[in-house]
Amino acid sequence: MRVELTVNGAIHGVDVEPRTTLLDALRDNLGLTGAHAGCEHGVCGACTVLCDGAAVRSCLMFAVQADGIAITTIEGVTPGPGELSILQDAFCETHGMQCGYCTPAMILAAHALLTNNPAPSRGDIVDAISGNICRCTGYAQIVDAIALAAERIRGVNRPPEAGA
Ligand code: FES
Ligand code: FES
Repeated sequence: MRVELTVNGAIHGVDVEPRTTLLDALRDNLGLTGAHAGCEHGVCGACTVLCDGAAVRSCLMFAVQADGIAITTIEGVTPGPGELSILQDAFCETHGMQCGYCTPAMILAAHALLTNNPAPSRGDIVDAISGNICRCTGYAQIVDAIALAAERIRGVNRPPEAGA
């Protein structure tokens, strides 16, 4: 079947079988390997991408269901080639990654959170990543990273002080 996938702002026509998951289409057809295959049955969250801004497990969605939806993968959140987003930079700074397998999904889940809630509590952050498993168990540093990024994004968005 031919589907049109809108990924990171670009439209791609891809030929898939009806049973092809969105995860496999992203990785195998489009070469976007930042979405990771972990359990492939909806438990670990490693395959998380954003669909119209919401964090979704791409292993549980068929590629044909994604036709017409704006998909964002980790490859789409960088400001430019070789640059890191504020969230990615915060993960580096707080050591919010160890092996890195869960990291793209954690960052996308955080991205969805901060888009809707720029000033999350630690509880809000824990809730937002509660569907994502980190096998290295670095949860405390991941929460620190998201809190740091939230603070920095609020700072960037703050209007300049009068006279500054
Ligand atoms: S690979 Fe999709 S939830 Fe684990
Ligand atoms: S950093 Fe290794 S799985 Fe999370």
